[in-house]
Amino acid sequence: MEYPRSKEEVVERYSRVFPRSARVTYAPIAAVRAENARVWDIEGREYIDFLSDAAVQNVGHNNPRVVQAIREQAERLVHFTFIYGFPVEPLLLAEKLAEIAPIRAPKVSFGLSGSDANDGAIKFARAYTKRRTILSYIRSYYGATYGSMSITGLDFEVRSVVGELSDVHYIPYPNCYRCPFGKEPKSCKMECVSYLKEKFEGEVYADGVAALFAEPIQGDAGMVVPPEDYFRKVKRILDEHGILLVVDEVQSGMGRSGKWFAIEHFGVEPDIITLAKPLGGGLPISAIIGRGEIMDSLPPLGHTFTLSGNPVASRAALAVIEEIEEKGLLRRAEKLGAYTKKRLEEMKEEHELIGDVRGLGLMLGVDLVKDRETKERAYEEARKVVWRAYELGLVLAFLQGNVLRIQPPLTIEEELLDEGLNRLEKAIADVEEGKVPDSVLAKVQGW
Ligand SMILES: Cc1ncc(COP(=O)(O)O)c(C=O)c1O
Repeated sequence: MEYPRSKEEVVERYSRVFPRSARVTYAPIAAVRAENARVWDIEGREYIDFLSDAAVQNVGHNNPRVVQAIREQAERLVHFTFIYGFPVEPLLLAEKLAEIAPIRAPKVSFGLSGSDANDGAIKFARAYTKRRTILSYIRSYYGATYGSMSITGLDFEVRSVVGELSDVHYIPYPNCYRCPFGKEPKSCKMECVSYLKEKFEGEVYADGVAALFAEPIQGDAGMVVPPEDYFRKVKRILDEHGILLVVDEVQSGMGRSGKWFAIEHFGVEPDIITLAKPLGGGLPISAIIGRGEIMDSLPPLGHTFTLSGNPVASRAALAVIEEIEEKGLLRRAEKLGAYTKKRLEEMKEEHELIGDVRGLGLMLGVDLVKDRETKERAYEEARKVVWRAYELGLVLAFLQGNVLRIQPPLTIEEELLDEGLNRLEKAIADVEEGKVPDSVLAKVQGW
């Protein structure tokens, strides 16, 4: 086992040992060290991370409180299976999650990834309601396990290859910039809500629907924020038919939007919440938080894993929560988010390539377009911006092929945030001025 010496060597060895199913790559950053919003690669080059490691490092890379908690717990007890025994750390974490979640009298189930949390939520919803049908959204992303893949609404080639769960229906997500009903906010009559009603009139038997799965801000669809009253209106319809609302906070949760859970912006109480990514500060842990009677609907071993509730991951998650509370990171996400949005809006004034800036807190998207009138997605330009950003020392990605994903750690230093935004603007300007050659297109895969 020889430690690689260059990034080229890492990339070459990756291609030999990892299947293509495991990855979609943006830039060849072979990270070896990180601290808050800074990452260093194998050659010692420094980057500003505007991606928080795919919305994982809400409290910053290698947060000292989290690292200390991991170190202490690893010295005391690495693992003692929660399925058979009673380790203490998962208990403390479950109690804390129950305290902060906007659900009354909840119970908590642990897993290892956002995908398994959504998989479990399908099982809990089906078991509790004794119904099969799941409603989901076009362009949603719920994960890569069989269940979560089956309810994912992105164009997901793998489903056609391997098959999927049945009884899943999709509805359009409320998107005010690219309205699926061709409306403008001024002329809109919330057709996205009436669509759901109509779905129940002819196509889907409402009283056979177990749950609607929703991201409160659609992340991988390109940071789409619904109108403020959308979820309240939808929840009323769901309640009429006894349909559960499952909210996926895997990307939007743990303070990213300026609240613990993004659904709190919209004034509805969900029945189930799924969490993962930032929960363990980089260690694999997920949670399903749901109303007690729903969570008691599956029989023993109905949803659990040998490594569920691992004490080290649970301690790390408790440290993440403490850090958010003690450093006031919800407020900070809101404040830095407003500042970042303002700077992005200013960039939009200068750069025709930017069609829309949107998001809540530090969950922001910059929609790149070829033409502001037609809103045609600027796919090649987005790939060039991400590559140029990489050359300038900024970790960046896009979603849906053209929406830049701006999700720095909630702890990013203000000067570093400014410097990152300067680099982003330079990357956009260089692409607009034709300074980034077509040859880079082959180097950025993305999705
Ligand atoms: C909203 C959402 N749900 C679920 C997942 C899947 O999480 P994981 O990759 O941890 O399985 C993701 C990952 O990107 C996500 O963004």
